[in-house]
Amino acid sequence: MTAEPLERAQTLHTRPRAAASFPDPRPLELRPVRESDLPELRRLDQEVFQQVAYPPFLLRQLYDLYAEHFLVLDDGAGRLRGYVLAATTAYSRAGWILGLCVTEERRRRGLGTELMLAALDRLHGCGTEQVRLTVEPGNHAAILLYRSLGFVPEQPHGGLRPDYFGPGEDRQVMRLDLRR
Ligand SMILES: CC(C)(COP(=O)(O)OP(=O)(O)OC[C@H]1O[C@@H](n2cnc3c(N)ncnc32)[C@H](O)[C@@H]1OP(=O)(O)O)[C@@H](O)C(=O)NCCC(=O)NCCS
Repeated sequence: MTAEPLERAQTLHTRPRAAASFPDPRPLELRPVRESDLPELRRLDQEVFQQVAYPPFLLRQLYDLYAEHFLVLDDGAGRLRGYVLAATTAYSRAGWILGLCVTEERRRRGLGTELMLAALDRLHGCGTEQVRLTVEPGNHAAILLYRSLGFVPEQPHGGLRPDYFGPGEDRQVMRLDLRR
C-alpha cells in the first residue's frame, strides 16, 4: 500500500465540519501530555471508559514509556477533553494506537479525527510503517472514524478476534499502512 490513506485523512481533516453550526464552548489546545496532567488524565479516562479505564499505575507507566506519542486536548481551564495514546516498538516499524477519546459534550466536531491525525503524523515521523488498533466490534462511531482515516480490518475473519482481551472481550483489529 502507499501513503494514500494518510493523505486521504489529511484531506478529510481540512473539510468543513457539519456540527459547526453552533460555536464550541471553549477552544481546545492539542498538545503533548505533561507529568502534571496525570491526575486530570486519570479523571478523564475514568469519565469516558469507566469500568475499563486504565488502572492509575498503568496510566503512569504508559506516560513514562510513550509521552511523546501521548497527546491531549486541553481546554485551558484545568480540564482535559480528550486524548490519544500511541505506542511504538523498538524492534519493528509497527505502532499501535492504544487509546482515543473525546468527552461526550465535545464529540462530532472533528476532534477525534484531529487527535488521530496528530498521532499518525508523529508515528510516521519516527519511521513507523504500520499502525494497528483494536476496537469493540459494536463501537460503530470509532470504527467509522478509523475507516475514514484508511484503517481496514486486519484479516482473517474481518479482523474479529474472539476473547482478545479475555473471555467475552472480543475485539476487531484494524490496520493502516503508512509506507510511502
Ligand atoms: C470515538 C470518538 C473518539 C470519536 O470522537 P469524535 O470527536 O466524536 O470524532 P469525529 O468528530 O472526529 O468523527 C469522525 C467521524 O467518525 C464517525 N463518527 C464519530 N462519532 C460517531 C457517532 N456517534 N455515530 C456515527 N458516526 C460517528 C463519523 O463518520 C464522523 O464523521 P462526521 O462527523 O463527519 O460524520 C468518541 O466518540 C469517543 O471518545 N468515544 C468513547 C471512547 C471510544 O470509544 N474510543 C475509541 C476506543 S477504540
